[in-house]
Amino acid sequence: CGICGVVGLRHASPIVFDGLRRLEYRGYDSAGIATLVDGKIDRRRAAGKLDNLGALLETSPLPGTTGIGHTRWATHGAPTTCNAHPHGTERVAIVHNGIIENFEALRRELEAAGQVFQTETDSETIAQLVDYHLAQGLAPKDAALKALQRLEGAYAIAMIFAEHEGLMIGACHSAPLAVGYGDNEMFLGSDSLALAPLTRRISYMEDGDCVVLTPVGVEFMTFDGTPVRRAEQTTALAAGAIGKDGYRHYMEKELHEHPLVIGQTLQRMIDPANRKVVLPDMPFDLATVPRAVITACGSAFYAGMVGRYWLESIARLPVDIDVASELRYRDPPLAHGSLGLLISQSGETADTLAALRTLRQNAVHILSVLNVEHSTMARESALVLGTVAGPEISVASTKAFTAQLTVLACLTIAIARARGTLDPLGEEELVAALLDLPSRAADVFAQGDAIRRMARVVAEARDVLYLGRGSMFPVALEGALKLKEISYIHAEAYAAGEMKHGPISLIDRTVPIVASAPFTPLFDKTLSNLQEAKARGGRLLVFTDTKGAERVSAIAEEMVVLPHVHDFAAPILQTIPVQMLAYEVAVMKGTDVDQPRNLAKSVTVE
Ligand code: G6P
Repeated sequence: CGICGVVGLRHASPIVFDGLRRLEYRGYDSAGIATLVDGKIDRRRAAGKLDNLGALLETSPLPGTTGIGHTRWATHGAPTTCNAHPHGTERVAIVHNGIIENFEALRRELEAAGQVFQTETDSETIAQLVDYHLAQGLAPKDAALKALQRLEGAYAIAMIFAEHEGLMIGACHSAPLAVGYGDNEMFLGSDSLALAPLTRRISYMEDGDCVVLTPVGVEFMTFDGTPVRRAEQTTALAAGAIGKDGYRHYMEKELHEHPLVIGQTLQRMIDPANRKVVLPDMPFDLATVPRAVITACGSAFYAGMVGRYWLESIARLPVDIDVASELRYRDPPLAHGSLGLLISQSGETADTLAALRTLRQNAVHILSVLNVEHSTMARESALVLGTVAGPEISVASTKAFTAQLTVLACLTIAIARARGTLDPLGEEELVAALLDLPSRAADVFAQGDAIRRMARVVAEARDVLYLGRGSMFPVALEGALKLKEISYIHAEAYAAGEMKHGPISLIDRTVPIVASAPFTPLFDKTLSNLQEAKARGGRLLVFTDTKGAERVSAIAEEMVVLPHVHDFAAPILQTIPVQMLAYEVAVMKGTDVDQPRNLAKSVTVE
């Protein structure tokens, strides 16, 4: 979901509409805008893509200089026009991201008090609650604060009020919202990308903040009305940072940024002269953490799985790992002083955030690997290690994933050194392997034709089986996830050695097998598993490297040969072609690559 709002002197709806365009990447299935027209609230809403809303605004323009807009990713209620935001009454219109957990109780109370609801959504409750207080004669700010004090859950909200030109109120709790400062205009946006071309002067709101905006003023306060100050920052983001740069899709552009992003992330963590990893000062001692708990969602979880292989084998640190939506309710016994490793591109994913809070309550040290620096998770972590991936617009994660792996690799080295499982020579060897990666990653793009040959086989399939062993197993999982997400082809990933215990029964000519098999110590084992599949008629599409190529070529129908790199660095390099394969298949199938159906970039609901 995304929020954009403006109070100023210019026509609001085109500004808000463009802001929503920049928020499209977050995923949505309906959209809408409300403005004040001659003091009255008017709105346009449309199910489906923003183009539908754009067409509606063409035929039925929305004047006014005070406006709010929203892209909605359906949670409660279908993605219909009626459920699209803004919601409201004659007195107030609101847009809302997140979930109001106590909306049913509030709704009963408000209905008993005579408020008449138009939808079944939790969001409308906010508008009705504010409306109720306005009807009691409270001024907009007081009505908003009174309402905010009653809301439970996670939310970012923007509101405008009938008969109050030039007034917009925002609020947030456990969901991001940023304020942008212009000349005689002020903005609200879900993130700095939404505001990028409008202004570079931004304040990030904190949990429990309310903000009152007019064209010339911004006033922050807590929900009880106590004034607070929020620092104004200058964002480095230029509007150009979010263009496609001539690529067909953001995903293609972002795939091509792998070498750059890996290099930038390494630069932050490695002293190249001494070939040593240099981390920021730790608020806890890495040498004495008894174990690590890794948690994340989606691709970030698979990055965590690679991290587990590294931390266990190189740093000899025991590791638990679970998806955040499970960990948060599992109530596992946690050793005091453990290391909680949270991984998230957005830093806002609701499940990961909840898991973070659970871990923190259990006296676990929170170290988060995040791409968005001003995120809720960043604020709640003892230490943040940043992935220097830049904005990732495509819903399906690509460069953020390899940047996460890069950070986890460096962290592994630092922990191994602290625990005495890696000597200086060993560290030099691993650091050299990482420093080799950006240029090796650039070589992957020379394999475009081979990847497209594979893609032609995959694009015809209904089901695909991905295989890998050791640290290549999470790479296979990432490949299968990516294929599902953007090409809508069913894919399943298995640890190659586990295939014989189940999915081998599926294998025939119609189920291609995509394997990640570079020349690592598990190469022979993986190859044996591939032989088992081939013996049953399986068509093998294999990602390997220059050292494995000869033996793979004897059994594979198609293969992609990457440069051979150190085992340690192999999962980072081998991820790139696996993601490229999913991209090429999606392009062949003509799907909406950057905004696949039903998915959202940052899932701020449970
Ligand atoms: C969504 C996205 C995935 C992403 C996951 C975790 O499901 O579609 O691409 O991996 O969220 O997001 P995060 O921002 O926490 O890394």
